[in-house]
Amino acid sequence: MSKIIIKTPEQIEWIRKAGKLTAMTLDMIGTYVRAGVSTLELDNIMNTFILSNGGISACIDYKGGNKWGKWGYPRCTCISLNDVICHGIPRADEILKEGDILNIDVTTIVDGYFGDASRMYTVGNVSEKAKDLIAVTKKAWEIGIAEVRPGNFFGNIGYAISQFAESRWYSVVRDYTGHGVGLEFHEEPYVYHKAAKNTWPKMQAGMIFTIEPMINLGKYASKLDKDNWTAKTKDWSLSAQFEHTILVTEKWHEILTVV
Ligand code: MF3
Ligand code: CO
Ligand code: CO
Repeated sequence: MSKIIIKTPEQIEWIRKAGKLTAMTLDMIGTYVRAGVSTLELDNIMNTFILSNGGISACIDYKGGNKWGKWGYPRCTCISLNDVICHGIPRADEILKEGDILNIDVTTIVDGYFGDASRMYTVGNVSEKAKDLIAVTKKAWEIGIAEVRPGNFFGNIGYAISQFAESRWYSVVRDYTGHGVGLEFHEEPYVYHKAAKNTWPKMQAGMIFTIEPMINLGKYASKLDKDNWTAKTKDWSLSAQFEHTILVTEKWHEILTVV
């Protein structure tokens, strides 16, 4: 029995507000990403911005249902640098340098409703390898989003993403997935980024979930840091990710994490 929540029009309206604030935050921080800045400085700028726009961060003190960290997450956002796959914790001693690639993942709560999105950023000139990884990850994500419509199988999202990424000889991270979102941070279902064709459940109008593929230049295996949050590639290869919160509409879909 599926416990996937079908959101009401009123709930959708609120989740749209949270999605918008999340997107505004990701837009705003772009101009601050440069060599010499620490990831903690970026995190603090985003925290101030979210609070002054009527939201709060969903990440601060988040326990992850004991799935990931033993302790609550300590910061406002996740900033995942180079070989970090996801859930990198912003730090004062982590200073951006020319050539770095990073994912910034923001989840805001507005009046109790959640919006979750992330993007890649680059510092100065980055290698051709890094540029191609980011471009292919973005394309794979868009191909996955194109599968969202009522009546389609969730598995077809992961099928489309993995077919494309693997055709370019990249690998799809298995240990972290997309998820239902809106009334809670992480709801059912898990949204796999690698899946078999036509596997259940099916999408229905009113469902809201994230698609957030993590694609590695090397192998897909991840390892968890001693901090119990930071996930890195086991082979130290670069990793990229993009994320949107998406609503299934009567005819198609609507991306909610847009300004
Ligand atoms: N925003 C992440 C996701 O896309 C989850 C971060 S949990 C945190 O699901 F506690 F690390 F912030
Ligand atoms: Co998410
Ligand atoms: Co996220």
